[in-house]
Order: sequence, then C-alpha cells, then structure tokens
Amino acid sequence: MSVTVVVGTQWGDEGKGKLVDLLSQEADLCMRFQGGGNAGHTVVNNFGEFKLHLVPCGIFNPACTCVMGTGTVVDPHDLLSEMENIEQRGVSVAKMFISDRAHVVMPYHKVFDRVEDLARGAYRVDTTGRGIGPAYSDKVGRIGIRFHDLLSEEVLREKLKLVLHRHNAILTHVYGEQPFDLESLVAGCIAWGQRLRPRIVDSVPLVRSALKDNKNILLEGQLSAMKDIDWGSYPFVTSSSPTAAGASAGAGIPPRFINRVIGVAKAYSSQVGTGPMPTELKDTAGNNLRTLGGEFGATTGRPRRVGWFDSVVTRYVTEINGCTDLAITKLDVLDTLTEIPVCTAYRYQGELLEDLPDPTVHDKCEPVYEILPGWQQRTRDAKTIQDLPYNARRYLDRLVTLVHVPIHSVGIGPEREHTLMAI
Ligand code: IMP
Repeated sequence: MSVTVVVGTQWGDEGKGKLVDLLSQEADLCMRFQGGGNAGHTVVNNFGEFKLHLVPCGIFNPACTCVMGTGTVVDPHDLLSEMENIEQRGVSVAKMFISDRAHVVMPYHKVFDRVEDLARGAYRVDTTGRGIGPAYSDKVGRIGIRFHDLLSEEVLREKLKLVLHRHNAILTHVYGEQPFDLESLVAGCIAWGQRLRPRIVDSVPLVRSALKDNKNILLEGQLSAMKDIDWGSYPFVTSSSPTAAGASAGAGIPPRFINRVIGVAKAYSSQVGTGPMPTELKDTAGNNLRTLGGEFGATTGRPRRVGWFDSVVTRYVTEINGCTDLAITKLDVLDTLTEIPVCTAYRYQGELLEDLPDPTVHDKCEPVYEILPGWQQRTRDAKTIQDLPYNARRYLDRLVTLVHVPIHSVGIGPEREHTLMAI
C-alpha cells in the first residue's frame, strides 16, 4: 500500500496535474482534498490536452476511483459541465464521486467573492472569483450547504432561508447588489442533487477499504503552502490548507498512513494574484521567461507573475509539508538562457536570511542570487536525467542542495513521456 500526497512548493501552478496524471496510472484511488474550481491542472496525455478545475487528474485511468474529498468546495454546475466535457472527449467519468460532506459553492458565493475582494482595497487578493473564500467562510461559520443537503428539499429550504436572511441583507445593504431568491435557489439545488445523486457518497468506507486492501492512494493538492490559510503570505492566500496535513484532514486519511509527500517545484517561479514575491522579474527578462514558459493561468487566463527559483520559499514549503521527494518541472523552459540566477537567501535590513521570515516582511526582502551557467541545448529529447546537459544536471544538483530534498523526477515538456524519473 502507498499513500502519496502531491503538493506544490511555490505559489501554485507548478505542474502538479501532469505528475498526478502520471502517478495515477498506478493509483486505485485519487482524491482532491482542498480547494475547488480555483484549481487549474493542465494534463496532456493520449486523450488530448485538458485543463481540469475540479475533476481529479486520476480520471484518465479507468481503474482509478476519483473523489472530491470532504475538504473541497465544489460548484455543482461547474462539476457537471466539466464531467460532460471530459466524457465527450472519450474519457469515462463512471468512477467519479464527491464526498457528501464537501461544501457546495453557491451562486451567492461568487458574487461575494467579487465584491468582497474589491472591498479589500490594498489587501485585495485577486482571487479567481470562483466563490472559494466565501464558501469556506460559510463552512467555518456553520451555515454552509453540504452535498448531502442537495438530496433533501426540506433541509435545503430551511437552511437556505437562514442563509439568505443574512446574506441578502449584506449583499443589498453593504454592497448594493441584487438579493437571491429562495425558491429559485432551492429549485437549482434540487436539480443538481438529482443529477449528482449517484455520485454523492460517504467517502469514509471508500477510504477505509482502500487502506485495508493495501491500495495505492493518491492525494492531489492544489496551490501550495505559500497560499495556505495558516502558513502562506496571509492575507494574500486561499481559504484552505494545501499541505500534506491538509490532505490528511481533507481526505480523511490518518496522518500515519501517508508514506510519501512529493513536492512539485518549477525550475523557476510563478504566481497568480497579489502578494509578495521577492524574486519576481518585472522587466524584459520577466516577459521573456513568461513567454518561454507559457505562463498564463489555466483558470483565469491571467498572465502569471514570474521570477527566478526561490530556494528560501521552496525550502520552507518542503519543511512545512515534510516532503520526501522533489519533482522539478519545466526545466526545458530554461534551455536557451545563458545564465540562470537562483535565490539562495534574502537580505532584510542588512541581515542575511536563509529561512523564510514572517509574511509581513516578505515584500521588503531582497533576493540574494547565485548565478549558474545555462546549458543552451534542447533537453526535451533526454530519456534519463543522465542524458541532460552537464550544466542542467549541475543546476538540478544545486536546487537539491539548497532545498535538502532528493529529486523524484524532472519535467522537460508537457507530455507524460517528458518526465525523467530519478532512479
Ligand atoms: P482563491 O483561491 O480564488 O480565493 O484565490 C486566492 C489566491 O490564490 C489568489 O491569489 C489566486 O490567484 C490564487 N489561486 C487560487 N487558485 C490558484 C491556482 O490553481 N493556481 C494559482 N493560483 C491560484
């Protein structure tokens, strides 16, 4: 049996989808444990290219059961259309389930997401607008709608009456928005419930029997601890915990069963949304790196902020997660560069910091760079890590030394076969 968690080690968008797609070829159960439609996992395989937002990347293995875990927040409309789209392209969604305890992203959450983020002013998070934060606020406020609620009109009406009493008052009086109508919301929810009924399950027996039968379980993270509600650059974060500990809680898998935590890091850095990013490149070098890496958001299409590899961040995130392995992605993006800076430490008020300081000072930290020579050769044809140019291997070795986690694999292109496994 193996329970593997895949987490990001930067600010998200590290290429976790591609790795989960690859690993799920051997998985029996693949679960998302946090977040929702704010994820944008790009997968390229023999079915084509997919940008998955909700459905776990394990869906491409017909033998793998896929579950949106209890820790997720899901818009049923978006889930249904994503499943429909995948199915139309020849991929079976027969083994796709959702935890009855997962929370529903309601239409009013998306409105709140927009107006509340605008109202934050200088602390605007630049969210994906998918209603994630407001859905988690309702969950923690104990007024959320869960998937099993979609199966009972009586429960729904009672809960929504309470919720709308509060939310409509805020929407209309504070934000000048239109109120939501109880009966149309109830009708919409019932329709979702009817379509999703066979897929809404108690995930506890599923997990229990997978553990008991020594199955391979893959827990698919979104984002990274830098956007974690507790450990990220608060308040520029998401509203859940995209960490190995969050995986345990959100999937309902006891921590002692997790035996592998793979941290995924791009060979450089990128971030979507606001918040500090010490190695960000705002000049032509940044534009060049963005173009080389095709760094535009899978969920929103927004240009991503890009910068050099920040070992202070990745070291911190791999420590928070207890990463056992490091998967480096998109090494090929650096193929043409003559020199590649790597951030080894920060300078803050004249002091050299190797450990990530408190988030309130991240934006005042200056990166300290070590300049490594580029390799200026195509890496995509390599079949093993040993085939890579000398300077590319030297670059990887330096990242490993700085992060203190051994290499699991190296990505040299978008397709499954463009992943070189460490032996
Ligand atoms: P939210 O998760 O939509 O509330 O957004 C919170 C922050 O996380 C914002 O900075 C978003 O841009 C960022 N974010 C959310 N999901 C993703 C993702 O899948 N990739 C990269 N950034 C994301």
